[in-house]
Amino acid sequence: MTPEQVELVRATIAAVGEHPEFADRFYLRLFEVAPATEAMFGDLESQRRKLTDELVAMGELLGDLTTLDARAAELGRRHRGYGVRAGHYPVARAVMAETVREVLGDAFGPEEQDAWERATMLITELMQSG
Ligand code: HEM
Repeated sequence: MTPEQVELVRATIAAVGEHPEFADRFYLRLFEVAPATEAMFGDLESQRRKLTDELVAMGELLGDLTTLDARAAELGRRHRGYGVRAGHYPVARAVMAETVREVLGDAFGPEEQDAWERATMLITELMQSG
């Protein structure tokens, strides 16, 4: 990813942070598309905040791949424990991009989308590498 793309991803995460409904919509849509995942979750209330906080932390680390790798691998190991498998990641990536588009509208343009796809691909690959 170029430094410009890293900045676009950080700006997108910051913009998403202005939309408290983002995480709600993400999980609603995820459970629609992949109903079996709903049973994996416990308290969704606290989960919403954890997801957005983690996105902020990872956005910051996009410029520091060694630390990002360690954090993502650790997160991915915990996800295996939750029952998350390889096939869930593309679904979650698609739902997340769709939800970002829904809350940001035109502000999530082609360049932002391209940068977003690269970042989420990188993060979810690192999550599965640990
Ligand atoms: C960009 C990718 C993802 C990020 C950043 C992310 C982030 C998080 C975070 C921060 C937590 C809180 C617990 C922890 O830190 O271990 C969590 C829990 C969880 N995530 Fe993810 N996640 C991602 C992808 C996925 C995918 C693909 C699934 C598949 C359905 C999933 C399912 C879960 C489940 C089941 C939990 C446990 C919830 C609970 O204990 O109630 N996540 N996730």
